Amino acid sequence: MNVLVVGGGGREHALCWAIAGSPLVRKLYCAPGNAGIAQEAECVDIAAEDLEDLVHFALTNNIDFVVIGPEAPLVAGLADKLKENGIKSFGPSAAAAVMEGSKSFMKEFCYRHKIPTASFGRFTEPLKAKDFVEKNGVPIVIKANGLAAGKGVIIAETPEQAHQAIEDMLENGAFGSAGTEIVIEEFLEGEEASFFALCDGNTAIPMASAQDHKRVGDGDTGPNTGGMGAYSPAPIITEAMTKTIMETIIKPTLLGMKAEGRPYKGVLYAGLMIENHKPKLLEYNVRFGDPECQVLMMRLMSDLLPALIASEDGVLKDFDLRWYDDTALTVVMASNGYPGSYQKGSIIKGIENFQDNKDMTLFHAGTKFNEKNEICSSGGRVLAITALGKNVLEAQVKAYEGIDSIEWPDGFCRRDIGWRAL
Ligand code: AMP
Ligand code: GLY
Repeated sequence: MNVLVVGGGGREHALCWAIAGSPLVRKLYCAPGNAGIAQEAECVDIAAEDLEDLVHFALTNNIDFVVIGPEAPLVAGLADKLKENGIKSFGPSAAAAVMEGSKSFMKEFCYRHKIPTASFGRFTEPLKAKDFVEKNGVPIVIKANGLAAGKGVIIAETPEQAHQAIEDMLENGAFGSAGTEIVIEEFLEGEEASFFALCDGNTAIPMASAQDHKRVGDGDTGPNTGGMGAYSPAPIITEAMTKTIMETIIKPTLLGMKAEGRPYKGVLYAGLMIENHKPKLLEYNVRFGDPECQVLMMRLMSDLLPALIASEDGVLKDFDLRWYDDTALTVVMASNGYPGSYQKGSIIKGIENFQDNKDMTLFHAGTKFNEKNEICSSGGRVLAITALGKNVLEAQVKAYEGIDSIEWPDGFCRRDIGWRAL
């Protein structure tokens, strides 16, 4: 079959890498892709948000199946538009993607279906929001309602910080329309982990767990990023914990979404806070995590593509996904300055000689070819080295060996990915 992957980051490189190995694939395309994805797929110069052009491309190129990587096209309804045109895809409808697209929807939904999550209030008026902060005290968490590329969450340690965040979002338009409504919620303590389940509207099967490193600096310091590294499995997600998460969070979500006329298909990514063996839901994402997808794909033994198709076709029941027991660990290299402003276009050496092997893969995130056909940076997060090992330490040592073979003075990485598990 002909498959189109939508997106152009590290997540989509990992998806293309996994899908390219499927015997079901005749031709693989990726829009827009990147310099690394170009080794696996034919890259097509269409942005992931350009729904009309994506549908047109799929129609004119006999695409049988579209795998939608990022949240923005899902929330905007790409899966629905493809369906209207008779094209199957992996990922939720817009009605179901609202789970990520609107934090207030997600919070009210959890309340309706008794899914454990932080207590909260919704606000459009700054005075009422500040009042809520006054009553509940700090630390407290302020969130822009809509999509804000991972930047819309402020953990306020003081009332002043909380007031500032409220003003920034509700009065100064810091997140544009995504911040005209805010959610303020209880600060949860515990250990954070990500849990991924594949869903077909009726059935959810657990995939794997991972832990992300959101802060830019070693020791979890500095501003939040999209993720500077990850490993899978997350030691805190034991078999018993997987059962608890499935029973108290994932299954009620699937049932609730179906009952509300928004059956959920695709991957459901639950961001969790776990304290005293009790998981609470921090957020839902309606797509794979980035860079969590990179570690998941390294550990996946089964063919990914039939599983994605089964999710769309509603036949996941009795589907069996196999995983390697090994730990996968990924280290992201980002442009100096990220997550603030950074330069694009610097040449990355060592990348063309990098030899993937069964224990180590280089996934590109923000790379492209310049006029001289050299690989250069084109984004904040630029590449990720992902390694497999018997344990976290072995995977970590290998991943950093890979990192040290890349010559790129304009980039940096964290040197402590995996520290929590060591
Ligand atoms: P989110 O985009 O909702 O995942 O939030 C980004 C990060 O903020 C999460 O990964 C957590 O580290 C943190 N966070 C979000 N909500 C809470 C909360 N209620 N309590 C504590 N930390 C939170
Ligand atoms: N790595 C966090 C995310 O993909 O949302």
